[in-house]
Amino acid sequence: MSQETFESGFRLTEAQKAKFATDGYVKLPGFLSPATVDMLLRRTEHEMSTAPDNFKSEFNRLKYDFESRKDDVYDLIATPSFQDTLTSLTGRTLFLTFELCFELQSGVSKGFPWHVGVQSFGYQRADEFGCTIWAPLHPVRARGQRGGMAYVPDRIVSGRFIYDQIEPAIISTLEEKARRGIATSMSDYFAMRAGILNSPTMSDILEMHCEEDDFEPGDVLVFNKYVVHRSVRLEPGELEKRAAFVMRFVEEGSHYDLQRARNLEYPTEKYGHKQFTRSHMEIGLPDGALLTDSDYFDNKPMRMVHMRATQ
Ligand SMILES: [Fe+2]
Repeated sequence: MSQETFESGFRLTEAQKAKFATDGYVKLPGFLSPATVDMLLRRTEHEMSTAPDNFKSEFNRLKYDFESRKDDVYDLIATPSFQDTLTSLTGRTLFLTFELCFELQSGVSKGFPWHVGVQSFGYQRADEFGCTIWAPLHPVRARGQRGGMAYVPDRIVSGRFIYDQIEPAIISTLEEKARRGIATSMSDYFAMRAGILNSPTMSDILEMHCEEDDFEPGDVLVFNKYVVHRSVRLEPGELEKRAAFVMRFVEEGSHYDLQRARNLEYPTEKYGHKQFTRSHMEIGLPDGALLTDSDYFDNKPMRMVHMRATQ
């Protein structure tokens, strides 16, 4: 494959740019070329064939730490339309941290309830910019079989307080309970983490303000790390499974937050929880170091999404 094959010719409109600025997310129709969709389908199928099975009720298959070489993904990132769109949308130089993939099975997988990306961005300082590209690789029909995502404008409810307040407060609460001799369990921990955004009141607010779009393969959703979102079940119907490919980006110059990374280790240390990724620790930096300095990330120049001089 080559860079030319992955060039989609996509051009960002002013309306799309404005939507991202006001709501924190935007759907970009036709952002990926058909050859890119084919490549990503092969890539996710390969990765999911070795997926762990500890999240079976949420997703049929889910994979966090990709093992394949990233050459095709680097070729995709290097395309002018990819670089121009992301830098123009976010106003920043970005750095690819992780790829992930998720597969919903029709009528079975629940997906994730309301959440923000505290795992994927849990090693980055809470106030620094991060964003996700979500690319469903099968059609999503919001008024048909569904199987997409629901998301809420961050001007209505921003998930920022989950990163900088709730996640640290959950750990200090559990530690205080331990000091007072109150027993806690792994399910208490996960119930607390999910409980704020999925409380009756918050769910009511989020459900009445969320959007759910149709997607064709090649269309993507770009959303910042504060956007509250959830999976939408794939109802019984023609499509048996729906796969989605995800890329996480952090702004260049953002920093490792060791305490927040350690907080993600809490359920493992305290309750023996088997995590689906330990990347937040494997980054292996001192607190406050630049994320782009971590040897965890190979081919750093290829992971950069730059403002092009000709733009
Ligand atoms: Fe998510």
